Amino acid sequence: MPPLLEVRGLSYDYPDGTPALRDVSLRLMDGDKMALIGANGSGKSTLLMHLAGCFAAQRGEIALRGETAGQNLQALKDAAGLVFQEPDDQLFMPSVLEDVAFGLTARNVKTEEAHARARSYLEQLHIQHLADRPPHRLSSGEKRAVALAGILVMDPEVILLDEPSSALDPRARRNLIDTLNGLGKSMIIATHDLEMASMLCMRAVLLHKGRAAWEGSPMALLSDNAFLSDHGL
Ligand SMILES: Nc1ncnc2c1ncn2[C@@H]1O[C@H](COP(=O)(O)OP(=O)(O)O)[C@@H](O)[C@H]1O
Ligand SMILES: [Mg+2]
Repeated sequence: MPPLLEVRGLSYDYPDGTPALRDVSLRLMDGDKMALIGANGSGKSTLLMHLAGCFAAQRGEIALRGETAGQNLQALKDAAGLVFQEPDDQLFMPSVLEDVAFGLTARNVKTEEAHARARSYLEQLHIQHLADRPPHRLSSGEKRAVALAGILVMDPEVILLDEPSSALDPRARRNLIDTLNGLGKSMIIATHDLEMASMLCMRAVLLHKGRAAWEGSPMALLSDNAFLSDHGL
């Protein structure tokens, strides 16, 4: 079986010339949860944007189940669900329920069916009581959970999370970790929360200045202070 996702020699510069990724290679097997670790500016979000089909590779390639994406990003867009770092970038409907159902109604699922499915994910994440609230008035932890529900409802093959624990209080963070652990889903979690990474992921890839500089167990990283400070963590 080919890996669910494979990145080979991926490099990317932003239009203003800022280098963001350099020769990155990695593989995600079905059912794996992988942490993507690295200091601010190391390229985590840029890599997730590629995996979600938002950016096309400039050099190197991304393959989904052995099929190279090339310039056709639709297969990646369909397979991957990206939860943005800022939930405000993702939430825009007048109510939580409509927001979570949005991806389905946009794909012509009937409103009633879309709302029923959205409600089931609100229940799974224990936020059914928020269904009628306007998303922009929620706490950060609540917004994060709503944004996650909006991705889960699409049933993506792989979930990509961009710094999901940032700005969460300890209890919201704990809930998030439990929720993610309970989802039998393939995931890539970009974070500098090493403790969360070690609770969720068997494997981590460390990005340093756009390069995949190290790969191993997040547990091993937690105890290596010299290595962490060398890589800005
Ligand atoms: N829109 C952009 N235009 C130019 N440079 C960018 C842009 N977004 C990110 N960068 C730069 O690309 C590099 C990688 O950024 P990013 O992928 O956001 O890192 P991380 O998510 O690990 O903090 C950084 O040097 C950052 O400043
Ligand atoms: Mg980022």
